[in-house]
Amino acid sequence: INVVGRVKNNVVDPVRSKVEQVVPIDQLVRGAHLYNRARRVVDRRERSPRFVEKPIADGATIPLADIDMSNPFLYRAGQWESHLKRLRDESPVHFQKKGPFGPFWSVTRYEDVLAVDKNHHVFSAEPYIVMGKMPAGFDIRMFIAMDPPKHDVQRAAVQGVVAPKNLKEMESLIRSRVQEVLDELPVGEPFNWVDRVSIELTGRMLATLADYPYEDRRELTQISDLASGVPAATGGTSDLDETFSAAVPMLRKVMHLWHDKAARIAAGEKPGFDLISLMLADEGTKNMIDKPMEFLGNFVLLVVGGNDTTRNSMSGGVLALNKFPDQFAKLKADPKLIPNMVSEIIRWQTPLAYMARRAKEDTVLNGQHIKKGDKLIMWYSSANRDERHFERPDELIIDRKNARNHIAFGFGIHRCMGNRLAEMQLRILWEELLPRFEDIKVLEEPEIVQSTFVRGYSKLMVELTAKK
Ligand code: HEM
Repeated sequence: INVVGRVKNNVVDPVRSKVEQVVPIDQLVRGAHLYNRARRVVDRRERSPRFVEKPIADGATIPLADIDMSNPFLYRAGQWESHLKRLRDESPVHFQKKGPFGPFWSVTRYEDVLAVDKNHHVFSAEPYIVMGKMPAGFDIRMFIAMDPPKHDVQRAAVQGVVAPKNLKEMESLIRSRVQEVLDELPVGEPFNWVDRVSIELTGRMLATLADYPYEDRRELTQISDLASGVPAATGGTSDLDETFSAAVPMLRKVMHLWHDKAARIAAGEKPGFDLISLMLADEGTKNMIDKPMEFLGNFVLLVVGGNDTTRNSMSGGVLALNKFPDQFAKLKADPKLIPNMVSEIIRWQTPLAYMARRAKEDTVLNGQHIKKGDKLIMWYSSANRDERHFERPDELIIDRKNARNHIAFGFGIHRCMGNRLAEMQLRILWEELLPRFEDIKVLEEPEIVQSTFVRGYSKLMVELTAKK
């Protein structure tokens, strides 16, 4: 979030940098909010687009030119598979001229998505990795949307928080938190799995990672949901005023956490394995608080990156095992399949549908001429269902040989930093679920969120049967 205007190519001028150091964070955000409101008054393009849900024709029959991959209701309408299959088969690098987010190319085959993701010299992650743009005053500087060298420096600074040694330390804590949540679940009566399990567990994991006040953990979920639901960016439903207002207490708390932790460690307390302790311990990042927006960018990226993704894999797994009951039976008969199943669930769900890139030069991709500056959408949700790469791709097959080959974590320099943590969290969840419950029955079709970006659920009603 900025005080004024946009940051160009992630370069912050020295005056702004100084301002950000001396002005308290809540005033910075309030300033950004005022700026955003003013821009919405004077510039129609800054107002949130409105999306109206209408019936969507089957992708197999619609004229190719009418396919609209920017429709945020495509997933909810159950039409995303047919649309993407049509593109994979007939127009794998497909240009869409019109839509609320401007023109873009859809890249839909596994090999092409891989080629784009691996080639950061030609395909830039700047300025945004979403289909649209962030509203004025809203540019949070996150390394997921930066190119080298800045990306590499910032990623290296926070990587330690999810390093194998740290994950090992975290495992028993995460397991005990999973156990707590599962032990409190009602048996034999309907409840919303998304709220009671997926959101709750993800919130606990993020609070652990950030050492955020445990009782306030839902604030992390809330801010993350608001950020990823910005209508102009992803076609979601967030209200901008609510988003700015929710950011203030969270950011204030995070700044306080840093200073408090620094003081305690200076007084001799043993550092923990959370993000701030690790940054304080590292020569390269121990003074990052002097660049508050950079620190906050890293903090918010970890929270947003770990939120929708892990949560929707937790819900998607339950849904998929209900859609493919033979696989549920296979799992119960052989719980050693859990690690492979976790990869397969992530492939099947693909919680982030895509990442966006911009061509840095004219280039050719699978026969199509891409111009410098063109926007490309790498559809992970399509690459993971590409029949050229996965057999029977629409099915969940928990012992699938190449399940780990999925591309839901991306590839190349931006490959998901939290992938091992996400896998660990999902593995522990299923290791703890199987001995407790005989069945997790989905009672009705889930409610699906409105978004071009997040493939997620807001409601999944289930009923548990206790183990005999
Ligand atoms: C990047 C997916 C969980 C933190 C990414 C990317 C994807 C992704 C697709 C971009 C890859 C690219 O551009 O090539 C997922 C999925 C998850 C998950 C599917 C769970 C199933 C997490 C968790 C965290 C996290 C738990 C942290 C706690 C990040 C970060 C980046 C990232 C920091 C930016 C990496 C970079 O730009 O270098 N993730 N993610 N993710 N993810 Fe995840």
